[in-house]
Amino acid sequence: MLPAEPKIFHGRESEVADILKQFSQGTPRIAILCAGDMGKTSLAGTVLHHEEIITRYQGNRFFVACDTASSKVELAGLIGAHLGIKPAKDLTRTVLRHFSDGPPTLLTLDNLETVWEPVDTGWEIQIFHLNLR
Ligand SMILES: Nc1ncnc2c1ncn2[C@@H]1O[C@H](COP(=O)(O)OP(=O)(O)OP(=O)(O)O)[C@@H](O)[C@H]1O
Ligand SMILES: [Mg+2]
Repeated sequence: MLPAEPKIFHGRESEVADILKQFSQGTPRIAILCAGDMGKTSLAGTVLHHEEIITRYQGNRFFVACDTASSKVELAGLIGAHLGIKPAKDLTRTVLRHFSDGPPTLLTLDNLETVWEPVDTGWEIQIFHLNLR
């Protein structure tokens, strides 16, 4: 289940446009960064319900609240639950395989900061950093 589109959402036109531009150029990884309560979740929720994004990803749009995950394995478990994957001790590979073999999917990871340790992953991924002010 996706969270509802934010009912009250003013401004942020340039940020929404920046994000849509990233999607128009490929399959981006975008980190929305700023201090608390400044609208990260609302911006992500607005993008999730944008018509261009719906057209592109249809039912393959997911929103995962990551607050309760304190490790990579727990994060994979949370994501797997949203994808409908049968629970198992370590879903890391299963989840990765789902994304590499499955249909184009938009995954929003809300409050990822607890488990996000890019230095340790060893992954060479391009991340578009969007700093809200
Ligand atoms: N563009 C906007 N227009 C109107 N209200 C907004 C907008 N963005 C955020 N808000 C409101 O501001 C509050 C904080 O927004 P939000 O929860 O998205 O922030 P956040 O950065 O995700 O916070 P946190 O760091 O706690 O996760 C909410 O009440 C939300 O409805
Ligand atoms: Mg938030």
